[in-house]
Amino acid sequence: MIIHYIKLTVFFALIACCPIHCADLNHTSPPTSFVQDTKDQYLQFSIGKAMHTRRISEIDRLSKERGTPEEEALAKEIAGNAPDYTCGDTHEASIRFFIESHFGPASSSLYCVAEDRIGKREFVFIDKENEIVVKVFPQIPKHYFKIIHELSGHQAFRELNLAQAGMAEFLRLGKYSLNGVDYLLLAMTFVKGEEIRKFFAPVYSAGGPAEKQEAIDDLKKIFYLLGTVMGEAHSRGKMKASPSADHTEAVMQSYTLAAGKLIDKYKEADRENSEMAERIWENFITISSQYDTGPVYFAPSHGDAHLGNFLYDKASEKITVIDSVRAHLSVDSEDLPISDSYSYDCVRIEDSIIKGILTYENDVDLIQELIGTFRQGYEISAGDIMNQSHFELNRFLRTLKQYVSTFKWKTEDDLVKRESLRRMHAYYEGMLCNAVALLAIH
Ligand SMILES: Nc1ncnc2c1ncn2[C@@H]1O[C@H](COP(=O)(O)OP(=O)(O)O)[C@@H](O)[C@H]1O
Ligand SMILES: [Mg+2]
Repeated sequence: MIIHYIKLTVFFALIACCPIHCADLNHTSPPTSFVQDTKDQYLQFSIGKAMHTRRISEIDRLSKERGTPEEEALAKEIAGNAPDYTCGDTHEASIRFFIESHFGPASSSLYCVAEDRIGKREFVFIDKENEIVVKVFPQIPKHYFKIIHELSGHQAFRELNLAQAGMAEFLRLGKYSLNGVDYLLLAMTFVKGEEIRKFFAPVYSAGGPAEKQEAIDDLKKIFYLLGTVMGEAHSRGKMKASPSADHTEAVMQSYTLAAGKLIDKYKEADRENSEMAERIWENFITISSQYDTGPVYFAPSHGDAHLGNFLYDKASEKITVIDSVRAHLSVDSEDLPISDSYSYDCVRIEDSIIKGILTYENDVDLIQELIGTFRQGYEISAGDIMNQSHFELNRFLRTLKQYVSTFKWKTEDDLVKRESLRRMHAYYEGMLCNAVALLAIH
């Protein structure tokens, strides 16, 4: 242990003694096959520490959204010791310098995925020429822990060794500072393909019926495949267990708390309709009273399964999973599953299908068809893992959350958006009112 500590101290000391300057590296030619050659020691070391720290943190984590003091401290330690690529007075200059130092000459096509996020939360730069993606983590209050979750969540999901889906590979860590703020840099491989959510638009921009059918067939293929991916992720390392009464009580308490908060928000959004609030609450109570407290599967999950976090490459017909930052919340220090909330992954994906279609039109049949294909793929891969009562409860709460958020249709100026939101509003309202009847069908 002491030797290990000394080694680490020496390692950090070496890094700290060798600051990298823009000018020093400008003439260094980058290695050609960087994926193998530049597997960064500092990154590997940081992943190991992130895994360890989040495991300790699991014990007293107050909220999934927040970092623990240990995670914050580790983020600060990582940022303190990461090689420094500060260059010039823009974000892009330092990011370019980081890429050039390791992966290839400055790309003319470097771009930011969502510029409005820069400085506020983590943001992503893509360099297609060098096939590198750089995710940047501002070291600002309430955001320090994010790099820890990114590293440990990615590693937790990676350890599932999925056969049905690829994953980006993390390559290198660095940092830069700008206007007194530190930014951590994480380089990873660029993944070919498009976010799955982008495959809805072609159905509605198709020139004729044949083209439209082709786009629908693409969606069906994608959701079947996504079902097999999710099913495989959940069933890898699944474990049947009887939750203790304490566990069940804690879970029920958190569901009830979440429902209460959402209903309060609903009441704020729709002050006149107290009858609807009562109905929602009654339906929640009915659904939660059917919660299965018997033996259930515990399993690893992705944790943020929306359609921007799965990329589909049409040429290879392959799905790649990205952004598995929350996967670590579903496994313990031995990588054993500790959570039975994986049904939420499926709830999120099915909800994304609903939104994906309702953005364009009120085609309930197509929604059902796509959800059906997703479930088919899932069941083939996962078997009987899904606990229906957990799924229903998660779905009810997700629907309620979405319902509350669609009230803004009333004030939306953009007429197209307004119409989409209104469609979603009506659809979710129907789901909430019929939730108990739907339960009886299953
Ligand atoms: N390795 C990657 N290859 C290709 N595109 C990526 C990669 N990582 C991220 N992206 C793109 O950037 C977007 C945002 O990245 P993500 O890691 O999901 O961050 P966040 O959702 O936290 O902003 C993704 O939805 C995707 O379009
Ligand atoms: Mg994402």
